[in-house]
Amino acid sequence: MKMEKTGQAEIHINDQTLVCPVYEGTEGEKAVDVSRLRKETGLITYDPGFGNTGSCASDITFIDGEKGILRYRGYDVADLAARCEFIEVAYLLVHGSLPTLAQRENYATLLNSHSMIHEDMREFFSNYPEHSHPMAILSAMAVSLSSFYPELRGDLKEDVDMTVARLISKLRTIAAFSYKKSIGEPAVYPRHDLKYCENFLNMMFSSPVRGEPINPVMADALNKLLIIHADHEQNCSTSVVRAVGSSGINLYASIAAGICALWGPKHGGANQHVIEMLEDIRREGGDVDKVLERAKNPRSPFRLIGFGHRVYKSYDPRAKIAKELCKKVIAATHTKDPLMDIAQELEEKALADSYFQERNLYPNVDFYTGLTYREMGIPTNMFTVMFAIGRLPGWIAQWLEMQNDSDARIARPRQIYTGPNLRKVAPIAKRK
Ligand code: CMC
Repeated sequence: MKMEKTGQAEIHINDQTLVCPVYEGTEGEKAVDVSRLRKETGLITYDPGFGNTGSCASDITFIDGEKGILRYRGYDVADLAARCEFIEVAYLLVHGSLPTLAQRENYATLLNSHSMIHEDMREFFSNYPEHSHPMAILSAMAVSLSSFYPELRGDLKEDVDMTVARLISKLRTIAAFSYKKSIGEPAVYPRHDLKYCENFLNMMFSSPVRGEPINPVMADALNKLLIIHADHEQNCSTSVVRAVGSSGINLYASIAAGICALWGPKHGGANQHVIEMLEDIRREGGDVDKVLERAKNPRSPFRLIGFGHRVYKSYDPRAKIAKELCKKVIAATHTKDPLMDIAQELEEKALADSYFQERNLYPNVDFYTGLTYREMGIPTNMFTVMFAIGRLPGWIAQWLEMQNDSDARIARPRQIYTGPNLRKVAPIAKRK
């Protein structure tokens, strides 16, 4: 859908007035179009971190950070998590509508038929050092797919389906293979008789000599976790996927760049760091108040990991789902995780603290997803890989949308230069 022009805004610069159109989206979000600003006034906008910059119009995901709303293609994320499998949501994001039963079955078959990776690619894993981070392997493998499989050209549905299925199915296989590599076990190949999430759990936890029964609670939890990660409009990694894709490079390379962006501890890497923070608290005797004091200290760079969000100024709807899932998985495994107790105490105390209240800092998606993955037996350094598998359909949908957007241009922000003015190069012997 197109944005509607609903008004205009005037920008006054000295004695010049620039009249800019105001556009409105389907949920009432408004934007001033400043695309003529530099040409007509010589000025640019200064917006570090792009907190006020709309880089595109998109039909895919709606977030209301004040109200804690997250919807994919108009469906509430909680509704999707309660009623859909992950592959249905992947289909929804990419194609715009939920699949019928027949479409879902065809999609599942298509995903299964593309689940293997080229055998030469499997060899790559053996050349990584033992402690390589799986995110490094995942991004390298994602870009390597471009050497083995054809690029997506045009927007023919069959070609889109095939390329998307390749990526969604193979990235999951690569993720499981990278885990097996990290523990020195042989890879377990994907199976055609298993569904998407069951297949992943089997590749992770079975071995070529021993099949591991798949717990339906874990498969259901994985479906839901991947659904809550599936898209989040113009976040850091998605903006990277769009920016890299805007240069005209193929989908695989754009996704590899998105994986690198997601890895950072302020973004998807936070789920790993939450667990490390909780472990530290436990090791140091469980003093939650001390950690809160550190997080509040303006002179300390430390932040409470898993708290706060650029967009959500209320409880992250994904964190609500993850918290309940975590409890469900703990109940199913009959375990008692001391980190869960610390997490709940941390949440309770932070939410009652004026520092966090005044800044609207609530648990974000990463606060409880890491704990849930941990309960499922997924190792800590794989958490961000799980996030990447979940976010993949969102990245793909955003990349495809950009390809068909007549307003899209190569991403190229401006800057305010603050370096030295023109100076002459001195002969090397005379330089100080
Ligand atoms: N702990 C302590 N103080 C915080 C935190 C936190 N986790 N987050 C923000 N603040 C403070 C910040 O210091 C600032 O204080 P002041 O106004 O006194 O300077 C105020 O709250 C506003 O924060 P901000 O810096 O404007 O927030 P931002 O939009 O630039 O950053 C964020 C958002 C997610 C990077 C940040 O909240 C953070 O670093 N959180 C911890 C890391 C984390 O959990 N990241 C995962 C994000 S959710 C998943 C994803 O999107 O990938």
